[in-house]
Amino acid sequence: MADNFNVRLDEVKYYTPDACCKEQSWIGDYNRTYQAFLADPDGFWDGIARELDWFQPWDRVKEWNYPYARWFLNGKLNITHNCLDRHAHSQRRNKVALMWRGEDEGDEQIYTYRQLHQAVCRFANGLKRLGVGKGDRVCIYMPVVPEQVIAMLACARIGAIHSVVFGGFGVNALNQRIRGIEAKVVITADVTYRRGKAIPLKNIVEEAVVSAPSVERIVILRRDTDKPVELHPEMEVDYYDLTEGVDRECPAEPMDAEDPLFILYTSGTTGSPKGIVHTCGGYTVGTYYTTKYVFDVKDSDVYWCTADPGWITGHSYGVYGPLLNGATCLIAEATPDYPDPGTWWNLIEEYGVTIFYTAPTAIRMFMRVGEEWPNRCNLSSLRVLGSVGEPLNPEAFEWYYRTIGKDRCPIVDTWWQTETGMHMLTTMIGEPMRPGFVGKPIPGVVADVVDMEGNSCPPGTGGLLVVKEPWPSMMRTVWNDDERYRKYWNTIPGCYTAADLAVKDKDGYIMVIGRSDDLIVVAGHNIGTAEVESALVSHEAVAEAAVIGKPDAMKGNVIKAFVILKDGRQPGDKLKNDLVYHVRMTLGPIAIPSEIEFVQSLPKTRSGKIMRRVLKAQELGMDPGDISTLEE
Ligand code: WTA
Repeated sequence: MADNFNVRLDEVKYYTPDACCKEQSWIGDYNRTYQAFLADPDGFWDGIARELDWFQPWDRVKEWNYPYARWFLNGKLNITHNCLDRHAHSQRRNKVALMWRGEDEGDEQIYTYRQLHQAVCRFANGLKRLGVGKGDRVCIYMPVVPEQVIAMLACARIGAIHSVVFGGFGVNALNQRIRGIEAKVVITADVTYRRGKAIPLKNIVEEAVVSAPSVERIVILRRDTDKPVELHPEMEVDYYDLTEGVDRECPAEPMDAEDPLFILYTSGTTGSPKGIVHTCGGYTVGTYYTTKYVFDVKDSDVYWCTADPGWITGHSYGVYGPLLNGATCLIAEATPDYPDPGTWWNLIEEYGVTIFYTAPTAIRMFMRVGEEWPNRCNLSSLRVLGSVGEPLNPEAFEWYYRTIGKDRCPIVDTWWQTETGMHMLTTMIGEPMRPGFVGKPIPGVVADVVDMEGNSCPPGTGGLLVVKEPWPSMMRTVWNDDERYRKYWNTIPGCYTAADLAVKDKDGYIMVIGRSDDLIVVAGHNIGTAEVESALVSHEAVAEAAVIGKPDAMKGNVIKAFVILKDGRQPGDKLKNDLVYHVRMTLGPIAIPSEIEFVQSLPKTRSGKIMRRVLKAQELGMDPGDISTLEE
């Protein structure tokens, strides 16, 4: 695997950033800070938590009752007080908090901290009008607009648990998630704009709530003011009508540190997606700390994370982490190559972005279209570059470093997951960077590469990436399915298993190679094989289906499907198109197979489980490994 990745473990190639990066950074000396953490882990987190405002201090930093952790016991806080009031009632009140940019140049909205505070309070009061209160679940299915961020913060303000569903998901995926959390309210918009087209969202929601009896109200942001969509008054209410005449103040609900803050679904390896549960205290501390120390956010920074808030990256580093730090954040409803591949670079120049966080898949796309696009722009405002979601291969690292960072900016390749809530591994600013390697555990995290028994793997030997001690922003459970939570901690004794394969070098730098399970990471998004297979099988022509991830130069992986048709159904290009369309409509455009092959049979174990690794080995012309359990 490491060979495929084009890195020789014994060939040491480091990039060393300018010494001033380190001297001026919050982290200072990584090794010293890491040792200080190891010497007193609870003291380390206690010190960070004290930088935030609490309504009531905690009695104890943590309680570890394997595999259940509680952090900041009996502490009371509200994340939005820390994201908003703390700044809106200080010198930062007129500082820009949020800048939104739509596809068209004139499409812009800017909120100062004071204005954002007010907008959140008003919408929170609107939600209260609908009877939403502490502990109620609210589903947010919206495009990237300020109202999406405001909706998240408004829920958190009153203690309602939000669950954001990425706007690219289709009817079934949305329905499953709404039912999973028994949402009381769904917040959506009439349309999302993509590549100059208005894509309707409201009708997807209408279909998705049909068999979701928990839903009492749908709140709709009507963006198309020329032709406002009609609302069905028994169920639907306009986003801004809801805040008509409400109070500008809404006190932040004092939340217990362990109260749930949000649920975010991530693909499961079997069956349904998992609702990952994050809590108020630990998540606030973890995202505040990592945004500050990993990205080195300072008051003068202009920060842009390109992820949609529908993913964990958008939650932690598009919304909560940067606002906790009082940063000026850019969000954009902008496709990287529309109307041309200069769009993002223009935005960086125009807004003077200093910290830029994106995914390898985007970097590889930009590499392909050529450096003339970024070279047309003045990117000298940039100071820190980040990467997340999948391995940043050395070629992409070097291109990013040279062409975008002009050999000046440190790159933080951050490894983490929906489940971890915050960054876990990276190369902290000022440390030598090794292309292809994410780096080391950040101070606060104890991680390693181990074998199935939990023994540390020697340098150069691949194993599983694990975390060995609890951390504040770890998920607390899987919503309504604690068994699935325990599995994370029961696979390897004493460890949280991330299900990623990795290898360490002699200096302790870790390279993440890919998933060890049935998840496919396509363009940085996790897709469960089971979800795509069940979408395919729900088509009337399909008897059975298996999908695999196939390496792709641009997207990291693409989905290939093997399909057995029902008797009497004729394979052909028309049917392939139908199947792609069917998956697009049920699961959404992010999950469509790039390739479909009709087959007569699928490799299975004697107990009937599809052996996807055999299919994959066949596809890639590799050795399938142990096939002793393969059925005749
Ligand atoms: C992968 C995204 C290599 C990994 C924050 C992980 C990465 C999964 C990196 C989690 C990285 C994330 N290098 N692989 N820097 N970051 N991954 O839950 O396989 O959407 O397990 O969270 O993405 O994806 P998730």
